[in-house]
Amino acid sequence: MHTDFGDFSLLKMYSRSVINRVVIVLIVLLGSYRSQAQDAAKGKELFSTLCQQCHAVTDEKVIGPGLKGINQRRDEAWLIKWIKNPQAMISSGDPYATALYAKFQPVVMQSFPDLSDDDIKNILAHVEEASAPAKGGDAAAGGTNTATTAPAAASESPSGLFTVVLVALLVVMLLVLGVLLVLVTILSKAVAPAPGTEPTEQTKSFYQRLKAVTGNSALRSIVLWLFVFVVVKQTFDGLYSVGVSQGYAPKQPIAFSHKLHAGQYQINCNYCHTAVYKGKLATIPSANICMNCHGEIKRESPEIQKIYKAIETDTPIEWVRVHNLPDLAYFNHAQHTNVGQVQCQTCHGEVEKMEVMEQRSSLTMGWCIDCHRKTEVATKDNAYYDKLVALHKKGSKEPLRVANIGGLECSKCHY
Ligand code: HEC
Ligand code: HEC
Ligand code: HEC
Ligand code: HEC
Ligand code: HEC
Ligand code: HEC
Repeated sequence: MHTDFGDFSLLKMYSRSVINRVVIVLIVLLGSYRSQAQDAAKGKELFSTLCQQCHAVTDEKVIGPGLKGINQRRDEAWLIKWIKNPQAMISSGDPYATALYAKFQPVVMQSFPDLSDDDIKNILAHVEEASAPAKGGDAAAGGTNTATTAPAAASESPSGLFTVVLVALLVVMLLVLGVLLVLVTILSKAVAPAPGTEPTEQTKSFYQRLKAVTGNSALRSIVLWLFVFVVVKQTFDGLYSVGVSQGYAPKQPIAFSHKLHAGQYQINCNYCHTAVYKGKLATIPSANICMNCHGEIKRESPEIQKIYKAIETDTPIEWVRVHNLPDLAYFNHAQHTNVGQVQCQTCHGEVEKMEVMEQRSSLTMGWCIDCHRKTEVATKDNAYYDKLVALHKKGSKEPLRVANIGGLECSKCHY
């Protein structure tokens, strides 16, 4: 070899910057892959669990209107706002929303405050795709439920292809990295001082070679990036799950079903949770409240016998607590259910469909704050707010939100 290696350090630097760029590109690609591939497929899943019981992707009315062409009827911002909180939109006087409400009275769509903007975009992408007339005539003929299953293959195949392309790309990039590494190693040998002044390749000890490898800046760069990647991922995953018990649904001492009582028999929530509109705590009903009905109903059932036993032995039923904020936070039910007019379901999910009680919201500080930023204060027919509203209107075009009345102040939620 008779090339001049005077600029070898430059090459080293160059290979390092190439590696850095490759890694950045990979991360960006992976990121966009995740958000793209989820689109319609993820939307389909959400749609079938949350929306399908009331909506078809065709023109057909189920409980709510058919959603075919919804992306043309309404813009995305409106849809996101609507799906997160239809009640708020109706009560804010939005003309489209009030007209829709008038048409479908007395049914009101429930709110989905826990859906992210992306979730909703995914659902809308699915509706768009599923209501497209292509892919076999059965989509239109199938009506409510079958209509959404037909285009499944269509939404899944592109993401499969994308995975293959991505993996191929990854392999190619790793190969490029390998070649670069080999190149660097060969070059460093070539520029090593003449034999004699230093030990030759053959006489070098294993330790010295190891040193040469760890001294390789390209390799160090790769290891560093891998390390950073793993640490960042672990940290984020960890942070998001600390103390969050969303989905917690413990077995209760008596097989009490909200689906049966609040759903099928439509007993009001506050028949049992007597303080929920008046006090800080919603309260769990005592056995006596059960006895109002079960003194007569289903006396022979072993589950009901457990209620009798509790009363006879004068020991309260030991319900397992599901929702539990740490003591450092203050939460008041009446403030939300009565003053704020927030529906139970907004925070607790579709209780009337739960066989076993489950925690649906994360109950984190971020969750509280997020809602306070978005939710408008229910000022209608509440003279208490008249002055505040007038004052607020002078300074801002935005509606009065909970954040504007101090809902973000630390001391409101922390003693
Ligand atoms: C319990 C039944 C129910 C569920 C579940 C439900 N909706 Fe609705 N939806 C309705 C009703 C009823 C209306 C009509 C407006 C009203 O009366 O509230 C509506 C209206 C709509 C509209 C406006 C339609 C139009 O023609 O302008 C959209 C969009 C919508 N819903 C999307 C969704 C999405 C997305 C989901 C699932 C995340 C969902 N809905 C879940 C009942 C429901
Ligand atoms: C017939 C009485 C009754 C009715 C009606 C009722 N509940 Fe309950 N609720 C209970 C009992 C008993 C428990 C405790 C056992 C359990 O968790 O399932 C409970 C538990 C709960 C919990 C969890 C409490 C915890 O430990 O964190 C929530 C939330 C709740 N109910 C909400 C509601 C809502 C919302 C409604 C109305 C849609 C409702 N309940 C209607 C009796 C009732
Ligand atoms: C307002 C009336 C009412 C109240 C109050 C009430 N229940 Fe019920 N409960 C019913 C009815 C109605 C049924 C269904 C009976 C049937 O299936 O024939 C039922 C069924 C049940 C069952 C299922 C029994 C079985 O074996 O099928 C359990 C368990 C139960 N209730 C527990 C409770 C508990 C615990 C409370 C108090 C927290 C309570 N109920 C309060 C009306 C009530
Ligand atoms: C703004 C959100 C929000 C709304 C609206 C809401 N809850 Fe709750 N609920 C919570 C939180 C947060 C807790 C946990 C409180 C704690 O641990 O101090 C809770 C706890 C409960 C409990 C457990 C017992 C207690 O009081 O801590 C019951 C029962 C309950 N809620 C029922 C209801 C019912 C019924 C409604 C509707 C009338 C309702 N909630 C509306 C957020 C809400
Ligand atoms: C679904 C929306 C929603 C969620 C979730 C929510 N809040 Fe609220 N919150 C409201 C509304 C609406 C009001 C305004 C009530 C009123 O008009 O005073 C409010 C008011 C309050 C206030 C009184 C603020 C003031 O300045 O008077 C406190 C304190 C509060 N919330 C605490 C909490 C805590 C703690 C959590 C979480 C555990 C929480 N909230 C979750 C909607 C929410
Ligand atoms: C709307 C209610 C609300 C407001 C406003 C609020 N917090 Fe919180 N905060 C909570 C709730 C609920 C928790 C407990 C849930 C959790 O740990 O995520 C909490 C937890 C915390 C924690 C403990 C976190 C942990 O991991 O245990 C700290 C520290 C904290 N808040 C500080 C603040 C500070 C500082 C402010 C003002 C800038 C503030 N909070 C404003 C509701 C609120």
